[in-house]
This record gives sequence, C-alpha cells and structure tokens, in this order.
Amino acid sequence: MSAPTWNRREFVRNLALAGSAVTIGGVIVSCDDPTGAPHGAALPKRGGNGAATRYPLRVPPVVSPDGLTLTAAPGTVEIVPGVQTSAWMYNGQLPGPTIQTTSGGPFAIRNVDGLSQPSITHWHGLLTDPDNDGHPHQAVQPGQHYDYALVVNQRAGLHWYHPHPHGHTGEQVYRGLAGAFIVRDSVDTGLPGNPLGLPVGAYELPLIIRDVSIDSRGGFQFSKKSSGFWGNTPLVNGTYMPYLNVNRGVYRFRMLNGCNARVLRLALSNGQAFTLIGNDGGLLDTSATVAELTASPGERFDVLVDCRALASGATVMLRDLDAGWDLLELRGTGVAGAGTLPSGSLSSIPALGSPVRQRAFTFDGMTRINGKVYDMNAIEFSVPFGDVERWRFITNGNGPHPVHVHGVHFQVQSRSGGRGTTYAWERGWKDTVLVNDGETVDVLIRFTAHRGLYVMHCHQLAHEDAGMMANFTVV
Ligand code: C2O
Ligand code: CU
Ligand code: CU
Repeated sequence: MSAPTWNRREFVRNLALAGSAVTIGGVIVSCDDPTGAPHGAALPKRGGNGAATRYPLRVPPVVSPDGLTLTAAPGTVEIVPGVQTSAWMYNGQLPGPTIQTTSGGPFAIRNVDGLSQPSITHWHGLLTDPDNDGHPHQAVQPGQHYDYALVVNQRAGLHWYHPHPHGHTGEQVYRGLAGAFIVRDSVDTGLPGNPLGLPVGAYELPLIIRDVSIDSRGGFQFSKKSSGFWGNTPLVNGTYMPYLNVNRGVYRFRMLNGCNARVLRLALSNGQAFTLIGNDGGLLDTSATVAELTASPGERFDVLVDCRALASGATVMLRDLDAGWDLLELRGTGVAGAGTLPSGSLSSIPALGSPVRQRAFTFDGMTRINGKVYDMNAIEFSVPFGDVERWRFITNGNGPHPVHVHGVHFQVQSRSGGRGTTYAWERGWKDTVLVNDGETVDVLIRFTAHRGLYVMHCHQLAHEDAGMMANFTVV
C-alpha cells in the first residue's frame, strides 16, 4: 500500500469525525476547505439509531453493442442525494450502460468524444483485432468519433470499457468513464437451458466498485500524482452508500475493481465465504470457496453469495477489509428465492503447454517498463502468433502494479517474493495480475486471436499515464 500521506491523514480525520459510527466510507470530507472542517450540507443523513442512511444500488441499463453510439461527455449526476456532481460519463450515465452480447454477435459502436481532450475507448478483456482495440494511437480529438466493427468471438465473461488516450486515462476513468461489458455463451447463462443453473435475472448483478473523493460542493477531487489517486469514499455502480434487497436465494455478483489505484480486500461481514466461479477470462474449471478476495484495478471476480439463510430484516455487508469500508449492504427480504450453488465442473480450461521462450519485464519506479518510458511510436518486441511463452513480471517497489496485457488472456503460474503464492482467483484465464512490491509473477501466454499492435501496461492508472506501458506486435 502506498497511499499518499495526505490521504491517510484525511482518513484518520474521517474516523474521528465519524464518532461512534462504524461506517466511515460514507463520510464526505472537504479537502478544498483550508480549515479542514466538513460542510454539513454534504454529509449523509443518519437514521435515529445512528445507522447511516443507505440508498438503493443502481443497476446500469443493459444495451446491445450492435449499432450503439457511446458518447463520452461531461454532465451532472446525483451521487450524494440532493447534490449535483459534475462528471464525465458515457451516454450520461455513471457508470456507463452495461453492454451485453453473445459470443458470435456483432459489435458496431460509434464512440464520440464529447470531452475537451482526446479520448478513445478500450474494451478491456475483449479479444479484438488491433483496429478495434482502442489503442492510445487511435485517440480522436474533441468532437470527433471512432467507429468500431467486429464480431465478438470468445468465451463468456465480465469485461469492461474505459478510455485509453495516453496521459489522460486516469483522469477520464476517475471522472466517471467506465462501464461493464458482458459476453454470454452457451456454457454460461443468458441462453436457453442455462446448463449450469447459475443465477439469472434479478439474481445476477454487476458490481463496479471504485473510490472517489467528493468535495463539499459535490465535485470530484482529483490529482495526477504518480503515486496514484486514492479516493476517500467508495461507490458501487456509482451509488453512494448502497443497499440491495435480497431474497432467500443465491446471487451472482460480477465484481470489477474500477479504482484508479486502490487494491480492495473484499469479504462479507458475517464471515460467510464467497463461492468464486470466475474471473477475468470467464468461468473457472471448478468453483472455489474463498473467505476474501484481493482485487486490484482492472481485475474481475464472478462470485456467488448464498443468501438462502438470510432472514427478513437481517443484513450482511460486503466490505473492503483494507480501508475498513462498508461497500454494499445486503438486506434480507425473507422472500423465498431461487438458486443453488453449482457442484462439479463449470468449464474446461486447457493448460497452456511448455513455453518456447521466456521474456522478462521489470516494472521500474512509477513510469517505466524495462527501463523505458512509453513511446507510442516504438515497438518494443514482437511475439509469434500461436507460440506459448513465459512472461515474467518483476518489481521491487512502488506497487501495486496490476499488470495488464491487451489482446489475450494468460495463465498465472507462480508468484515468488512478497505474498509468495498464487490464489484461487488467479486460476483459469486472466488479463490482469497484481504484482506487489518485491514480487515476481510468471504467466504463460499465447496469442491466438489476432495479429498486430497491442500494449501491455500497469493498470495503476497514474503509472500507465506516466509511461508504464509498452507497445508490442503479434506477428
Ligand atoms: Cu483496462 Cu489497457 O486497459
Ligand atoms: Cu485491456
Ligand atoms: Cu504500476
């Protein structure tokens, strides 16, 4: 953890201001006020028993990528009830609409840049050809647009979309430009039969978890320091202090860490474990029972939460153990619901074979890979299409470094130094893996989707913007 010191101070002050209330995530502090005093106007109302007031979880509308216009533009949104916040949003929504399609389906999106700086949208986790990837060199100028056209061809999974213009990604994502992208297939739900019996409809929700700092007038505070932006308030699907009414059933939460820099340690307040069924690249081979999940920016977690025993009026909190934040309150309705936990095989994941070569990448300082700051016009290396390679990600400090590669999903093999182990959520197919201080992570990787130009980079967005990114080609 490398939160800037001012952030830690604010955090401690929040604790003091919150008094006996256990929920501190919802307290808004006004860093722009020289006295440091909070403005009562923006503070959340509290119920008579001292419990924080909570608001219904937003669920973004679902749209098809076939013929969609996605406009990134400034607007206002009510995040704290009664306060209008200026944000940058896709189609006026924070987060953007959930784009959903079935593998094999068409994708024709016009991305309009309605901002006052260059932008381009990247589809994180989609195996697109380079022309449709949203590489930084494709960024368009304000008022211009970029047209994407492809056929989605990959296994089901939760992915996401966000801007990728070099030097501006952190600010644009922070100000609200991000959304979920769900791919379905015949193994996963969404198609007739639902062979695995996974929760559907109201029992399946994306949870985009991110941090933000909101000032006394409802504005987003942001600074570009290369140690990364650490907000003081969590939002889930753009909802401040959210709750979700849950029936006595099994829920499927498709979780994404959409923070600029913050690593989350997710757990349930009652000690109940998650049933982990998938991650970045879709379903795991079999489910895993995990008490907590370490989620770095860009990573996805497909979990089932068993609420069958949750009585009417009982609550369970989804928490971030590291910040001590209450993220989402699950409120039991007592109503009989649907669902069971799957047993046995979920999907088949062939192990990548022996690598034919190895590459090593050092994540140096806060701005470089293998000693070099990103050069948009240079190609640092070429990877033969179809070859299995071992890539080694190494760092000594300045973490967290969530390492992300475009155009591929890889398989995590080992971690030495630091935490010294790999985790259940790192099985199967990944596109982002956390490299903490002192850690070396080995992955097996094979490009089988497309040839051409891609990037790899750190998904701590201040590092990415400062140059911790590299171009490569698949040949
Ligand atoms: Cu989510 Cu290249 O990024
Ligand atoms: Cu990506
Ligand atoms: Cu980094």
